[in-house]
Amino acid sequence: MSSKTVTALLEMSDITKSFPGVRALDGVTFDLFAGEIHALVGENGAGKSTLMKVLGGVYPHPEYGGEILIEGEPRRFRNIRDAEAAGIAVIYQELSLVKDMTVGENIFLGREPQRFGIVRWNNLYRQAQQLLDDLHLSIDPRTPVRELGIGQQQLVEIAKALSQNARILVLDEPTAALTNAEVETLVQILSKLRSRGVGMIYISHKLEEVFRLSNRITVLRDGRTIGTEPTKELNQSSVISRMVGREVGDIFPTPEHTAGEVIFEVRNITVDDPYTAGKRLVNDVSFGVRRGEVLGIAGLMGAGRSDLLMAIFGAHAGRMSGEVLVENKRVRITSPAEAIRHGIGFVTEDRKRFGLILDQTILNNMTLASLPLISGRVFTNADREVALGETAMRDLRIKARTVFTVAGTLSGGNQQKVVLAKWLLTKPRVLFLDEPTRGIDVGAKQVIYAQINLLAREGLAIVLVSSELPEVLGLSDRVLVLHEGRITGEFTRANATPESVMACATGQMKR
Ligand SMILES: Nc1ncnc2c1ncn2[C@@H]1O[C@H](COP(=O)(O)OP(=O)(O)OP(=O)(O)O)[C@@H](O)[C@H]1O
Ligand SMILES: [Mg+2]
Repeated sequence: MSSKTVTALLEMSDITKSFPGVRALDGVTFDLFAGEIHALVGENGAGKSTLMKVLGGVYPHPEYGGEILIEGEPRRFRNIRDAEAAGIAVIYQELSLVKDMTVGENIFLGREPQRFGIVRWNNLYRQAQQLLDDLHLSIDPRTPVRELGIGQQQLVEIAKALSQNARILVLDEPTAALTNAEVETLVQILSKLRSRGVGMIYISHKLEEVFRLSNRITVLRDGRTIGTEPTKELNQSSVISRMVGREVGDIFPTPEHTAGEVIFEVRNITVDDPYTAGKRLVNDVSFGVRRGEVLGIAGLMGAGRSDLLMAIFGAHAGRMSGEVLVENKRVRITSPAEAIRHGIGFVTEDRKRFGLILDQTILNNMTLASLPLISGRVFTNADREVALGETAMRDLRIKARTVFTVAGTLSGGNQQKVVLAKWLLTKPRVLFLDEPTRGIDVGAKQVIYAQINLLAREGLAIVLVSSELPEVLGLSDRVLVLHEGRITGEFTRANATPESVMACATGQMKR
């Protein structure tokens, strides 16, 4: 072997970036070779997304310090287009598709195939179809994006990045909302791109994936590079302790709650697809939840889990039929406000749409958004409100300067914690959690799991939807499995195994 050194595709050296009062990046060094997947990991707020925004031209020079080299050449991007022209495609953590446009329009937005200034639609949709086929995605390019679930939107973002023939592809939490099958599709796509010489930066809190996919791992903590190592020289616990700066034990708490009487019940819930006449998203689903019980709902993406919860909460566009009973009394819920009045709380998977007001402070999001609706729980004392907000911030380890920090400036995982804190403060009787730990780091997950357990011990009935099977199995007293809108299985904590739950989730086992 010759000892010639290979020029890195990308080198970022001594990168610094500050926001008012926050030093997000403090001398970060990072490099990437052609044909490798380099994982970037770290706790919520460590600076991962910010580093990628520097690379992607979102924060142009001189808004950051340090140097970016592409194939040995110093580069300074003035904007996103500059970075794209240099072959960099970034799929951001917060999805950026235009909801009212079709999948095809989104993929080619700003780069539509034209002739004499006229967009050639047939051409556009044919190319879009080809890209989607290439990814083995069964999505019609003429579908409006608003009709797609988050998981599918994520895959469309990837198709869009691929259409730009990127040499450097950044994926910021690409699998947070994907099903196992979709993750497999993604893994195959990335392997293919790797063999074509594309360099990829992979940000994820799912360490199994990081270990499966990556060639090297860089750990960031508090805006600094802790180290870069070949993946095969590391293991999960060594990475976790580098991320967190301490050892993390078993992340699932031992349940200390016992179920009481049924406090919430639904009977024969059916939800129609608002976009396809005659199609049902949820079909004749009935269940009850007891005080102090955690009921998990497992299932694949698109099984109807979110549709079920959204419909019960009065937030679904499709028509719902069936009965909802709170403390054995029938209630009619036609809007989220009514649901909240009946003591139902909802941590949604799509925090951008339902969870957070991005231009408001953390405190406002935690309190004003929901509390006045709940009788007898209105905060009248501002000091007390601040104190409660600060406690919640500390309990959930929300990384922000004060409770008056604007929510939109928080890192993805910290935004999710604010949504959770908001509902925890309202102390509902029934709490729906839809993917509550999406994008949340291991250390913070442990905190959230402990909170869920604590709430159950205080007598809350909790309905938990999660695509992470270990999470459903680790937290639930009882597990229902949904497949194509119907319940196909029910398990107790003792008899729920990953194999049996998956068999029901994929429809291989019907009850
Ligand atoms: N636009 C902004 N204004 C102010 N502060 C910001 C802004 N963007 C990020 N920050 C701060 O910079 C720090 C790093 O945030 P960043 O989003 O890079 O974290 P992250 O590692 O991507 O975390 P996560 O895993 O939660 O996505 C955080 O303290 C965050 O609050
Ligand atoms: Mg991030």
